[in-house]
Amino acid sequence: MNSFKIMVVAIIISILGVSISYARHHNERAWVSRDGLMHLISDQRAILRDIAEKGNSAEDAAEFIRAANALSAMFAMIPSVFANDDLPDISRAKPEIWSDWDNFVATANAQSVVAASLAITAATSGLDAAKSRVEEIDCGSCHDPYRTED
Ligand code: HEC
Repeated sequence: MNSFKIMVVAIIISILGVSISYARHHNERAWVSRDGLMHLISDQRAILRDIAEKGNSAEDAAEFIRAANALSAMFAMIPSVFANDDLPDISRAKPEIWSDWDNFVATANAQSVVAASLAITAATSGLDAAKSRVEEIDCGSCHDPYRTED
């Protein structure tokens, strides 16, 4: 190979390198949003469980309502952060999310409705009535069909 050809090949390789690393960066950024949302969901659910176990003051009731409403909004955000099916290897998302998209969205929305109804129950019937319903939030309804095993 003469030096001109070597230079052309080197340029092509470096352009490919830049676009591959851009794609990887892009994928990982989308995944960070998904993973971040899931961890926020997990934190808010932990607050509900904690109050269900030992909360009884008016502040606990107000915090319960806030966390349930936050959870409802975050469940409703799930489809938007999964809209792009470009994922890095680290992702546990199954391809069924995109092949079965309408059902995936319905599963996220169903959990959003459960969380909203917990907030309504706490606000209208009191904290005790809502406490017994915290386990109605069902993360497995989505993880079982749409997330790979550990
Ligand atoms: C509508 C679907 C859906 C619902 C509802 C849902 N998750 Fe997830 N969750 C996923 C998917 C899919 C992943 C894997 C995402 C990835 O790695 O790209 C995930 C990942 C996670 C992760 C990241 C770490 C890991 O193990 O992969 C945590 C933490 C998590 N979910 C917690 C929860 C909790 C807690 C709930 C319920 C309060 C919940 N999720 C409800 C779909 C859902």
